[in-house]
Amino acid sequence: MFILNTNDSTPLYRQLYQQIRDQVLAGELPAHSRLPSIRDMAVELAASRNTVEGAYQELCAEGYLYGKSRSGYFVSDIDPELVSSTQLVPPQQDLRPGPAESYRYDFHPARLDPQSFPSSAWRKCLIECLRSDSGTFSRYSEPQGEWGLRRTLQYYLERSRGVRCSPDQIVICSGLQQGLDVVAQLIRERHVSVATENPGYHLPRDLFRNHGFKVVPIGIGPDGLDLDALTSSACTVAYITPSHQMPLGQVMPVANRLELISWAKKMEGLIIEDDYDSELRYVGRPISSLQGLYPQGDIIYQGTFSKVFSPALRLSYMVLPRTLLHDYHRLFRNYLCPVPLLIQRAMILFMERGHWEQHLRRCRIYYRKKHGAMLKAIEQSFGSSARVIGQGAGLHVVLELTDGLIDEAGLVERAKQKGCRLLPVSDFYASGSPETNKLLLGFGGVDMDDIPHGVQILSTLIK
Ligand SMILES: Cc1ncc(COP(=O)(O)O)c(C=O)c1O
Repeated sequence: MFILNTNDSTPLYRQLYQQIRDQVLAGELPAHSRLPSIRDMAVELAASRNTVEGAYQELCAEGYLYGKSRSGYFVSDIDPELVSSTQLVPPQQDLRPGPAESYRYDFHPARLDPQSFPSSAWRKCLIECLRSDSGTFSRYSEPQGEWGLRRTLQYYLERSRGVRCSPDQIVICSGLQQGLDVVAQLIRERHVSVATENPGYHLPRDLFRNHGFKVVPIGIGPDGLDLDALTSSACTVAYITPSHQMPLGQVMPVANRLELISWAKKMEGLIIEDDYDSELRYVGRPISSLQGLYPQGDIIYQGTFSKVFSPALRLSYMVLPRTLLHDYHRLFRNYLCPVPLLIQRAMILFMERGHWEQHLRRCRIYYRKKHGAMLKAIEQSFGSSARVIGQGAGLHVVLELTDGLIDEAGLVERAKQKGCRLLPVSDFYASGSPETNKLLLGFGGVDMDDIPHGVQILSTLIK
């Protein structure tokens, strides 16, 4: 950004010349980058075109810039070694994060396969929205999210997850974090403590703690959340992943679901159901949501597009119980929807045209194959020295070593050196000594053909 000071005795064109020159020398304007046209720069600076033209011409004459006919002005490639240190503006610390580390064998459970993204259909929907003349760029989204998207989601959730609601109960969010931020503000007048799964997804734990709630970790048994422990805690809110416990993978049986619902009724409590990867089930039929078992109850249903579509879009949704709608409108009536209108509209088209269902079918087939490849690779490399738990759904499995414990931190580091990324299981534990005989193996982000070799590297490192 350039700023001209009319109170300064230095001519305006010279001020601009100096500022551009300093940025070129400091490397802040990269070689061959294009400067704004004379006209645009003049508008930006509220200066005359002569001012900008004078600066550009002088910079060209001295070799800082070069011009290309009908294309504009570009930054010259100047060898930084040759720039005398006296000319350099003291370099500022570069605060940009480095490029994200990439691993050949990325076993992080939240990675999707880049091949699975339906680029062509999504691009068509985006382009259509860009071309349409219906105000995609001249207005805000509806605060709660576009009604068309909420209505489409309502059909989808009812059909596929047994969720029973109306579009006015659906709130479009930019991920679980933002959804839970809203929930935390919505419930803090009535609740003080939240039970979270242990091991469990770390985000809700941190989020509710940051909002001032007492967070009580509750253990996980073979059927998911330990309901006895929940009952003996004084909590009135429970955050759970009943259809695919994160990270251990248990499915909560219907008897436990009903017991949980009865706990909520008795306690006048609230259940937050995180149904993050329900679309991906490779064994048996999909399990219906908890919300569908008791739609009139105090259950907040959370869903996301991050697991089968893309985590990069930041698109998710939640279904609020009717009992919270009044407070939601009271507290959030002036809030704006955090998801760009363009993304919402493109998703409406994507779903309405049947691309979503088609994409789900493809993903299920594709990830089922990867899931199978992972189980086979584990069998081949670990044999009877490990057993797999939590398989049959989602994008990861958990490997439990039958003999011996792992130095987890050491293994994560050694695996990194061999090109394998592991997310430590201990990250999922609230406190205390983490289990160290478990490995979390995501298969979404590893190339199908690389799975056997990646798993073999891990088994060699462990043995
Ligand atoms: C249990 C669980 N819920 C939700 C999410 C993410 O949802 P979002 O990307 O919509 O924030 C994740 C991501 O890994 C997760 O593990």
